[in-house]
Amino acid sequence: MNTWTTIQHNEANPADAPKARAADLRRSLGRKMDFSLYNPKETDEIEALFTKTFCDSEGESEGAIVGDLAGELIRSTDENDFYGFVARDDVDLVGSILFSRMWFERKIDAFILAPVAIRTDCQRRGIGQKLINFGLNALKNCGVELVLTYGDPRFYSMVGFSVVTENVISPPFKLSQPEGWMAQSLVGDQIDPIQGKSRCVEALNKPKYW
Ligand SMILES: CC(C)(COP(=O)(O)OP(=O)(O)OC[C@H]1O[C@@H](n2cnc3c(N)ncnc32)[C@H](O)[C@@H]1OP(=O)(O)O)[C@@H](O)C(=O)NCCC(=O)NCCS
Repeated sequence: MNTWTTIQHNEANPADAPKARAADLRRSLGRKMDFSLYNPKETDEIEALFTKTFCDSEGESEGAIVGDLAGELIRSTDENDFYGFVARDDVDLVGSILFSRMWFERKIDAFILAPVAIRTDCQRRGIGQKLINFGLNALKNCGVELVLTYGDPRFYSMVGFSVVTENVISPPFKLSQPEGWMAQSLVGDQIDPIQGKSRCVEALNKPKYW
């Protein structure tokens, strides 16, 4: 039985559901999801979302590392080199994705998508894919040509990314998991090789992230 079947089945008899479950049901069914550009006032909330989500999925120390990264990316990156997007239901922050600029030896408008988090109790409902597609569309409308990411190909291939080798597009550091290095063109179907080295923003410029 999938999640939606379970939720709809329970909704038929909400009086029987414990209070916490009823709140989950309202969250799942009753609220619409909005996708938008982040507001700097949301910085602490976004940082807390990354910390908690990665704490849940990867453990406490990883949660702290990714939360710090998200906070530093937002606070320290020049606004011309950064885009952040959020998903919210009527009340709460549900997800966030951050993009920061990358530079190559030839001029190309390129960004890297990292990190991405959907609140643990809201995962696997399609919100992550919708939020990423929303962000990619916004970047495309701003003239961005290439987006990179570094993560699980099973997920990122669902939103248009393809695995590339370090010879095709050079990462700023040697990758510990080269199978997770991915790209997508926002101006065509093909990913053309880019000669030479790359550079990322200061917040990502640490070997531990690669
Ligand atoms: C990974 C993540 C962003 C996906 O967002 P989501 O809203 O849960 O994903 P969607 O519902 O849009 O897509 C679900 C599909 O993505 C894939 N997927 C989801 N989470 C995945 C994961 N951790 N690993 C691999 N594939 C995953 C699955 O194919 C899944 O389909 P299924 O439920 O039928 O198996 C979210 O689960 C998350 O925040 N996880 C913890 C933090 C993290 O791993 N972030 C990404 C690395 S930067």
